[in-house]
Amino acid sequence: MESKLGVDVDHAARLLREGKLVAFATETVYGLGANALDVTAVAHIFAAKNRPYFDPLIVHVVDRTWLPRLVARWPKKAEQLAQRFWPGPLTLVVPKTDLVPDLVTSGLPSVAMRMPSHPLALELLQRADLPIAAPSANPFGRISPTCAEHVAEWLGEQVDYILDGGPCSVGVESTVVQLDGDRAILLRPGGVSLEDLQAVIGQIEIPIRESTHPDEAAPSPGMLPQHYAPRVPLTIVSDVTSICSTDKVGLLTLGPIPSASRFEKVEVLSTSGDLTEAATSFFAALRRLDAAGLDSIVALPFTNRGLGRALNDRLSRAATSAARTDRVS
Ligand code: TXA
Ligand code: MG
Repeated sequence: MESKLGVDVDHAARLLREGKLVAFATETVYGLGANALDVTAVAHIFAAKNRPYFDPLIVHVVDRTWLPRLVARWPKKAEQLAQRFWPGPLTLVVPKTDLVPDLVTSGLPSVAMRMPSHPLALELLQRADLPIAAPSANPFGRISPTCAEHVAEWLGEQVDYILDGGPCSVGVESTVVQLDGDRAILLRPGGVSLEDLQAVIGQIEIPIRESTHPDEAAPSPGMLPQHYAPRVPLTIVSDVTSICSTDKVGLLTLGPIPSASRFEKVEVLSTSGDLTEAATSFFAALRRLDAAGLDSIVALPFTNRGLGRALNDRLSRAATSAARTDRVS
């Protein structure tokens, strides 16, 4: 296992070219990568994660060289967003060419394209000289990994190498926007805020309901109400002062709160209440709470602006479900 984790970019690139699985750092979360043009390699991603085939993958590129071969139409708004936010935590869903295997897109006519900004990810993409399909490197439905050790812990057996780029600087996944003619649709809030997107292209449709319900149709096939989930039940509460329990309860909070002492374990994401800092520690804090032998976790919601929107989205998916036993693991 030890030798699987390292910073050997050449080795990682070679493995990708051989159709192997390489987990690698990006600025958002760690990705589980394979050659996007190799259907067998891509099938291994789904198997390693236990991910259902209806959930399409993001294709990562180092620059625009591959775009004409992978993308059939590139709307003006895609260009405006790419100019402003690439490389960075923004994924653009656009019509695909026949070169992109149907397995990558779950049979959809569109492909999700992302140019990450992590220097090691870019170096890997450069040396592999391939478009790389990569979902977050966690078992399906579980907490996303924001450092190499998280990947080793959960998927160490399944991957051929883990390219260690240190802790992720953004900490939540990329924002996913679908561009269709003149329309722009927010499929997943993430590392680029809605406000910043609107400043560049104006109106964006938001099919996501802020409060998710299991019966609700997902705007994007992968946007399931249950996701990013700890094993310990998590509840979102607006006020913790009334919580009085003999159980061991953990607390997840943006900033410090006065009544924190009643909790068995407290995770304060940012002592100054800063959303950017909170995002970098969110998934790791969720993991620590999950591993602390608690009976339950309560979390206070974030303000719904900037990165708070992405954090609320992840929180609501971590919390959904009364019947935890039927969750995919
Ligand atoms: O930050 C990120 O985006 C990370 C890093 C590794 O790049 N990746 C990531 O991948 O979060 P994943 O697979 O966990 O999430 C991809 C999301 C899913 O919600 C999926 O449904 C959506 O993108 N998606 C991918 N292709 C799509 C398509 N053609 N149409 C609609 N949604 C798509
Ligand atoms: Mg994921």
